[in-house]
Order: sequence, then structure tokens, then C-alpha cells
Amino acid sequence: MIPHPPPPTPGPQPVADRRPAGAGITLSGVTRRYGQAGAAITALDEVTVSIQPAEAVAIMGPSGSGKSTLLHLVGAMDRPDTGTITAGDYAVHDLDRKAAAAYRRRVGFVFQRFHLLSALSALDNVLAPLLPMRIRPDPQPKAVALLDAVGLAGRERSTPAQLSGGQQQRVAIARALINDPIVVLADEPTGNLDTTTGADIITLLLDMRARHGTTLLIATHDPTIAARCDRTIHLADGQVLEPTEGG
Ligand SMILES: Nc1ncnc2c1ncn2[C@@H]1O[C@H](COP(=O)(O)OP(=O)(O)OP(=O)(O)O)[C@@H](O)[C@H]1O
Ligand SMILES: [Mg+2]
Repeated sequence: MIPHPPPPTPGPQPVADRRPAGAGITLSGVTRRYGQAGAAITALDEVTVSIQPAEAVAIMGPSGSGKSTLLHLVGAMDRPDTGTITAGDYAVHDLDRKAAAAYRRRVGFVFQRFHLLSALSALDNVLAPLLPMRIRPDPQPKAVALLDAVGLAGRERSTPAQLSGGQQQRVAIARALINDPIVVLADEPTGNLDTTTGADIITLLLDMRARHGTTLLIATHDPTIAARCDRTIHLADGQVLEPTEGG
């Protein structure tokens, strides 16, 4: 009798094996209005969405549809008028000032205009989020390693003016990762970059997600970027349109 061959051994499953670092995020009935009653603008209107830990989600929609507002609310840079927001164990809608500051240290932000400090070197920009804190061990080797990981080894001493737009955005990504974030919020991170450079930046963000299991939200107008995410949330006039899989 011929013995059955052993069942194929499963290949490496790097994501499943790793302790997930990313937070699940929920928004439930979230409304944000700006301005006075009468002339009020409803930037987000009863938004309910659920995002899995380590999911990469694109936020799309016309200008003014509420993409940035949504990211600001998830990042506790703004508060909803009504509704609840959670990220991991944090009740984001309900944090006092101190708790909000602590939560924001667990969030990485990447912006369209990079928002680097022009007087500081690339290395010091990456270290900047740690400045208010006394950190041990010395965080500098980690910042150097992050700059290396985003392809900027040897450019630690360069200032933003000495770097291209794509390189500046790489510094911003390294800076976003210095605190081991549970979520990275990227608001049109390729908006100031040419198509090829922008595609490289998205590769870097998705790579970072794959390596660290960080939940990733990217607001974008670019459907090719959205197609590279796990899922797209479409906004129109502050409301979520029906979800579609794979972009
Ligand atoms: N601080 C603010 N004060 C008043 N209105 C605001 C404020 N921030 C946003 N809005 C309004 O809320 C709505 C949603 O704005 P938001 O910036 O979220 O849109 P967006 O989808 O990010 O647009 P874009 O693609 O142009 O970046 C818009 O009508 C905008 O004018
Ligand atoms: Mg915006």
C-alpha cells in the first residue's frame, strides 16, 4: 500500500503570526458641523464605518466631501458633535485634553504638504514627536533605522529644503512611525508628488502596514491608489456611499 503523502505544510504567514499592532476603528453615527446654525455646514453626516486592525482603507470623495474631517476626528485633532469613535481601547470622541494628547502620540500623521520643520535636519524631524518626552533608551538609532527603511540612509543631516518632495514625504513617514503608531492617517499623501513618486510613497505606506500591522487610512483623489488598498470608503456630502471591495 502506498502511503499518502503528508499534507503540504503551510508557507510562512508573516501577518497572521505577528502580534497585531494596528487598532480596529469604529465610527458610529458621527456628525460634525462647522459654523453657526443657519449657515452651518455638515462636514460629516451620521457616518458609521468599521475598520479592521491592520486594514488599509482608502477614503475617496469629491473636494469638500468630508475626507479630512474624518481623518481629523479619528486622530483626535477634532471632536464630533454627535456619535462615537473608537480606536482600539480608546474612546476617541470622549478623551480629555491629557488623554487626547496621549492618544495622538499613538497616531501617525502624513500630510499632503509634508509639514516638516524647515530648520531641522531629517533626523531631528523624525525625532520631533518625541521632543516633549524624556525617552530611554536613546531614540536616535531608531530614527536612523527608520530613515534607512524609507530609503534615506545617509541623508540624516539634510534639511527639508535640500530634499525633493518625495524625499520630504519619506521623512514625514519615518516621523509618523517613530512612536510605533496603532494607526497611520495619511491625508492626500501624494497630492504634491508626481505619479511615479506618489506610487513609491504608497508602496512605502503599504509596506509599513505589512511589516508592522499598522491600520492605515489614506484620503486620496487617485483611484489607482485606492485600488491598492484593501477597501475604499466613498464619501459624498459627508455621507458614506455603499461600500465596495478592493477599491
Ligand atoms: N474648520 C472648518 N471650518 C469651517 N468649515 C470647514 C472646516 N473644515 C472643513 N470645513 C468644511 O467641511 C466640509 C468638508 O471638508 P473636508 O476638508 O473634510 O473635505 P475633503 O473631502 O477633505 O476635501 P478636499 O478633497 O478638498 O481635501 C467642507 O464643506 C469644508 O468647507
Ligand atoms: Mg481634505
